[in-house]
Amino acid sequence: MSRLILDSSNPVAPGQVIWRSPSNIALVKYWGKHGIQLPRNPSLSLTLAASFTDTLLEYAPRETPDDGQVELDFFFHEQENEAFRTKILEFLNSLAPTMPFLKQLKFTIRTGNSFPHSAGIASSASAMSALALCLCSLEDRLFGTLRDADAFDQKASVLARLGSGSACRSIFPHAAVWGATQFVPGSSDDFAVPVGDLINPVFKDFHDDILIVSREEKSVSSRAGHALMDGNPYAEPRYAQARARMGALLEAMKSGDLATFGKIVEDEALTLHALMMCSNPSYTLMRPDSLAIIEKVRQYRADTGNPVYFTLDAGPNVHLIYPGDIITDVRKFIDDHLLEHCEDNYVQQDWVGEGPEEK
Ligand code: DP6
Repeated sequence: MSRLILDSSNPVAPGQVIWRSPSNIALVKYWGKHGIQLPRNPSLSLTLAASFTDTLLEYAPRETPDDGQVELDFFFHEQENEAFRTKILEFLNSLAPTMPFLKQLKFTIRTGNSFPHSAGIASSASAMSALALCLCSLEDRLFGTLRDADAFDQKASVLARLGSGSACRSIFPHAAVWGATQFVPGSSDDFAVPVGDLINPVFKDFHDDILIVSREEKSVSSRAGHALMDGNPYAEPRYAQARARMGALLEAMKSGDLATFGKIVEDEALTLHALMMCSNPSYTLMRPDSLAIIEKVRQYRADTGNPVYFTLDAGPNVHLIYPGDIITDVRKFIDDHLLEHCEDNYVQQDWVGEGPEEK
C-alpha cells in the first residue's frame, strides 16, 4: 500500500484541481457525536443542487522547511480570510499523519459559495465536501491510489466527515445515509453511502425552497450543539428514536408514501429544536417567524392537500420541501404568504441534485 509520501528527488509539477460540491438537507438529523467525528445515530439527507461551494486547490513543491504545519494560502471570494484559513489549516494538519504529502507541498485554496455568505445557509457541508474531493483528486493524481470510483467516493466521504459530519453525505447524488443502520446494507459510521437507487423517483424531483428567516450568525454553533447532547437527559431515547425513524422513513421513501414521509421529516425537525430547548443550558434557534411559517404550512396543507413539508437545520431558516409537480402552486403560496416572514424577502431556491462535479 502506498504510504502517500512524495519522492523528493523527483519534484511534482505545479498544478490544480477544482471541484463544485453541493450542500444537503438532512431529513433524519445527525445531532450528537463521539470519538473522532462519529455520529450517535444514522442520518439521511437529500443532496441539493443550487447551494454549492466551488473550490480550487493549487499545489506546488514546498519551498520552506517543514515546520510541522501544512503551508497554506487561503482566499474566500477572492479575499484572504484568516478565520477560515485557521479552520482549514487545522483540518489539513489533522490529515497529515495519514497523508504525509500534505506537508511536502505548498497549497493555495480559492473558494466561494453560490449563495450569499450571510444568507444563514450552512456552508460547512458544501465547503468541506468540495475540499475533501480536491484532496482525493490530488492523492490519485500523485499516487494513483483512488482509480476505483467507489473507493474514491468513500475516501472523499471519510475526509469530508472529518471536516464536518454532515459534509460526508454531500458526496453522493440524490440521497445519502451516514451511520451504520440495519436498513441500509454497507452503511457505516465512517462514511456515507448513496441511497438514491433505493428510493422512489418522486424524490429525485423534489424541491427545497429555503426561507431565510434570519441571516444572523447562529448564537450556538452546531459544534457546541452536538456537545450539549452529551448532558441531555433525552439523548439516549433520541438516538433510539432516530434509528427507528430511519427504518420508517426509508420505507416511506421506497414506496413513495408522501404523507408518511412528511410526518417523519417534520417530527425530526421539531425534535432537533426540542433537544436544543432541553439542553443545559437551553437555547432556541427558531424565531417567531420560523413558527409562523410552520403554522401556515400546516394550514396550507390542510386547505389544499398539497404534499408540502417543512424541515429546519440548526438555525431559524425553514426549508420547504415538495415534489416538482406542484411547484407553481407552492411558489404562489410562498410569494403571497411566506415572503413576509423572510429577511429582505429572500428565498434560496434549491432542488435535489446530481452531486459534486469536477471542473
Ligand atoms: C442540524 O455537520 O454542521 O444540520 O460535524 O460539528 O461540523 P459538525 O456538525 P454539522 O452538524 C449538522 C447538524 C444538522 C443535522 C444534519 O445535517 O444532519
